[in-house]
Amino acid sequence: MENLNHPSIIPVDEQYSRYQFTEGEADDDTSAYSVASSAYNFRVENGRRYHDYKDGHPFPYDEVSEENEIVLHELCLLLLDNNYFVSPVDESSLRCVADVGTGLGLWAEGVAERYPDTQVVGIDTAPRPSPVFPNLSHIMFDATEEWVLDDPTMKFDLVHIRSLFVGVKDWDALYKQCFENMNSGAWIEQMEVEIEAFTDDEEILPDSHITALCNFTREMSAAAGRDFQISSAMKQKVEEAGFVDVQEQRLKLPLGPWPTDPKLKDVGRFYERFYKTGLQGWLLQICTRSMGWTVDQVNDACIKAFQEINSRQQHFYFPL
Ligand SMILES: C[S@@+](CC[C@H](N)C(=O)[O-])C[C@H]1O[C@@H](n2cnc3c(N)ncnc32)[C@H](O)[C@@H]1O
Repeated sequence: MENLNHPSIIPVDEQYSRYQFTEGEADDDTSAYSVASSAYNFRVENGRRYHDYKDGHPFPYDEVSEENEIVLHELCLLLLDNNYFVSPVDESSLRCVADVGTGLGLWAEGVAERYPDTQVVGIDTAPRPSPVFPNLSHIMFDATEEWVLDDPTMKFDLVHIRSLFVGVKDWDALYKQCFENMNSGAWIEQMEVEIEAFTDDEEILPDSHITALCNFTREMSAAAGRDFQISSAMKQKVEEAGFVDVQEQRLKLPLGPWPTDPKLKDVGRFYERFYKTGLQGWLLQICTRSMGWTVDQVNDACIKAFQEINSRQQHFYFPL
């Protein structure tokens, strides 16, 4: 398997503090995202739309979350040099692939297009538009429960999971289902962002809102009964489910285009967009329902974090 680990210290571009914003890029430190919509029969709460399957997902499902997902997809393709996975799969015998928590289905679509002889199944609790490729299908169910596939004999050669953190309450049940629905010798691959802002800067802003929000997610996890930190637990849980030869690689997502390296600079640009289009949605429901915050407090926290990024003082990165 190719070694993707990033060097221990990412060199900082000295021009970063004089970074020029492109049009519209800096507008986000005066308003937090809030998109209201009456479309579809979903619940709208505090200006964001939520999908109400079972006890509901605490993150919104709307135009802003779609942009967030598109940005993550492009970021991952860039990071993986336009590859859809890093598992050492024999591509010539890749018959069936599952994408668990497929969301908009961008990854599943890309794989279906690249491997036209492979059956790709996107699994999600939320409805998705009809797939555009004949070898792609979408099935709606909770992946922690027994998988009911159109073809009950189907077993997967690759199961892909990306950015499912918080969505799943019972990870052991999810990995068990994956294991049971895979061929012997198949691979499972998962990518999750660690909600922890690291920096190699000698000085850290004493009142960093970004760091404070990361620390706060531990309380949010406890209040919501959902794990924001699955990235640190998934290797062990995957092994406990019975998988062997489990490998973990830690990549770095710079928050902003601060690295000198051109690829990491672009990754930083995408990750900043991902953070800015995601933050309000990650906080809003859990903070207002379970942490006693008002909507204004949530928006204020977002604005302060965005202002901190836009000040271009700090060189944070989040592990992936
Ligand atoms: C943030 S989106 C990630 C989309 C996609 N994996 C990507 O990386 O572009 C998470 C998706 O997981 C779905 N999801 C959450 N819990 C799930 C579960 N238990 N079973 C199936 N899908 C789930 C949500 O409905 C949502 O569409």
